[in-house]
Amino acid sequence: MALPTTNPTTTNAWEKLKEHFNEVKSLHMKDLFVEDQERANKFTIKWDDFYVDFSKNRFTEETFKYLLELADDVKLKQAIQSQFSGEKINQTEGRAVLHSALRAPESAIVDVDGVNIIPEVHSVKRKIEAFTNQVVNGERKGYTGKPFTHVVNIGIGGSDLGPAMVVDALQFYKNHLTTYFVSNVDGDHVNEVIKKLNPETTLFVVVSKTFTTQETLSNANTIKDWFLQSANQKDIAKHFVAVSTNLEAVQSFGIDPNNIFPMWDWVGGRFSLWSAVGLSISLSVGYDNYANLLLGANKMDEHFKNEDFSNNIPVVLALISIWYNNFFNAESEAVIPYSQYLNQFATYLQQGIMESNGKSVDRNGKPINYQTGTLIWGEPGTNSQHAFFQLIHQGTKLIPADFIGFTKSLHGNQDHQDKLISNFLAQTEALLNGKTKAQVIEEGTKEAIIPFKIFEGNKPTNTIFIEKLTPESLGKLIAMYEHKIFVQGVIWNIYSYDQFGVELGKQLASKILKEFGGDVTNAHDASTSNLLAHYKSNR
Ligand code: F6P
Repeated sequence: MALPTTNPTTTNAWEKLKEHFNEVKSLHMKDLFVEDQERANKFTIKWDDFYVDFSKNRFTEETFKYLLELADDVKLKQAIQSQFSGEKINQTEGRAVLHSALRAPESAIVDVDGVNIIPEVHSVKRKIEAFTNQVVNGERKGYTGKPFTHVVNIGIGGSDLGPAMVVDALQFYKNHLTTYFVSNVDGDHVNEVIKKLNPETTLFVVVSKTFTTQETLSNANTIKDWFLQSANQKDIAKHFVAVSTNLEAVQSFGIDPNNIFPMWDWVGGRFSLWSAVGLSISLSVGYDNYANLLLGANKMDEHFKNEDFSNNIPVVLALISIWYNNFFNAESEAVIPYSQYLNQFATYLQQGIMESNGKSVDRNGKPINYQTGTLIWGEPGTNSQHAFFQLIHQGTKLIPADFIGFTKSLHGNQDHQDKLISNFLAQTEALLNGKTKAQVIEEGTKEAIIPFKIFEGNKPTNTIFIEKLTPESLGKLIAMYEHKIFVQGVIWNIYSYDQFGVELGKQLASKILKEFGGDVTNAHDASTSNLLAHYKSNR
């Protein structure tokens, strides 16, 4: 069964929300907390090691009720079933969307075109496990007989961002292997990494679902040329492995067929870290930690599939986001992890969220007349407090924010942890309450300065408080956002799993590239023509 194709703005729930919005848009959350002493408890979900408090939002129980009705009106339950059961819900590309199957237990059955894919998924996992153990234990050696000390992941987009973020996030669990990521076609990127490598002890993981991506192939070829300055062609088999669906292209690159880790067309690039795309994660933190990451994601899948929507973390977060995006006209959302380990988390989410839901044609092929997609940005706290928080507190824009924190620190430095969490809590409290004129006066502020020191407050936040940053809890957190993306795509009536918007720039770039070395053969606008000429005479 295909995904439902309901225009959300034609549903009863949307009508109710529109009317209701006018009644609640000016309410201050401060008053809502005073009126209802139970508000914080009512709007908190406790699940496993997650404590999700969504009470600091500009909504009431009635709003929540209508948002849940919206989920029903667009047949969200049916859509979730369609996704998990392997239906080809990525209709524009004729593919199933089954990153969830990559973390399903071996006993699960998920059919694609009548074939259960789970045995193959687990056989690739066993290959990842065996390969990881051989590299980590030093059993597998480079061309001069030395064990590997460095791993370089060569990929871009989904073949880079997920593994790079996770390896960084799990550095506490890291083994002795040093891991680098090369992604940008900017040659300075690859050359800076090469500077740090010894060809004898470096393993290269070329990750490209299609094995046609310009950036990845350019970087892989540059690295191969550099490698061959010290080694022979036959040594490539020892040092290069690939993750791809395009087995032919990988082999013609010179990679040994035994060193190919397959993936499947039902894994979208930006949701692929759970497949062999995560090989560099497994190599960096060991297979058991990698398996726990997948286990965490699977637990979140089960929660998402089975939990009532009112108590379902991804569903609730998605509905709240729709509320701000489509009714308050909020343009962006911030994600603020209070953990330096999650330094790359917002960057990672940008691809997942904006490549998926940056769409303006609905599932009926019709132009959309309501807002979709959210701009996502963020940086860890407390650094971000000293960067962009001023704008969130006192700027003119409404920026709903997710605050992610951990009750226990990994290194156990309680002094730092208490300071960190005091900031974590203080910021959401300040964003909620703001500071009134009376409070500013009471502080003895000079008359002329008073207006500048008033904080309106009423700035919405979700607090996602997790016990500890572990591979398992990270898996849950990532999967939580993946499902949020899905729910929003279903409600907005868009296809979240294609990315045709990325293509146009790629096509034009390959045309322009040919023009650098020869005549300008394509018609360009005047601005591009001038820029092209400028580059040609100055390159
Ligand atoms: O940016 C577009 C995109 O297709 C992403 O979806 C994907 O993650 C990335 O390019 C890399 O593609 P590949 O893995 O095929 O090299």
